[in-house]
Amino acid sequence: MHYLPPLPYALDALEPAIGAETLRIHHGKHHAKYVQLVNELTTADKRPLEALIADAAGRADRKLFNNAAQAWNHAFFWESMAPASTPPPGNLADAIARSFGDLARLRSEFVAKGLAQFGSGWVWLVAAAGDLQVVTTHDAGLPWLDGSCVPLLVCDVWEHAYYLDYRNERDRFLGTWFDQLANWNFAAGQLAGGPARYRFPLPTD
Ligand code: FE2
Repeated sequence: MHYLPPLPYALDALEPAIGAETLRIHHGKHHAKYVQLVNELTTADKRPLEALIADAAGRADRKLFNNAAQAWNHAFFWESMAPASTPPPGNLADAIARSFGDLARLRSEFVAKGLAQFGSGWVWLVAAAGDLQVVTTHDAGLPWLDGSCVPLLVCDVWEHAYYLDYRNERDRFLGTWFDQLANWNFAAGQLAGGPARYRFPLPTD
């Protein structure tokens, strides 16, 4: 069965940008529930989560797709944040300069698109066809399923991600997230590729 990936930092490690109570509920309740439902819907299925997502999408099994994709998206979201964010390293900084001009332009686009995402969803930085792009997905959607891009970072813009800390101010959440939490080292590793590229932990037993 699949298990809930542990947070890569303490519950209070992202304060004040994201409070411990938000992280406790978001990881321990929301994310845990998605993983639990994946297990209930796929009893004895030992395939990796990525395979379950692709299979569910292919069969238009919305219930499994939504829960499996949300399980994946949240695990990737935790990795997309760092308690002490540092500037993008060389390979990523060069790619940002080529695609956006500079980090400030990327920030503007990331915040604007995350803010414009109507209702629940996700805002992603992806690498596609030699370019970096900011894209959004609705609900549990993820952009990489057709192999057209590699995800570098994601920010959760469902209200449960920010409401306790920011109430309705999604733009302030997105700006703070970008400035204080974005894990550029993780994004650079994703861009570089190879065996370190993120995959959801394999199921146990
Ligand atoms: Fe979430």
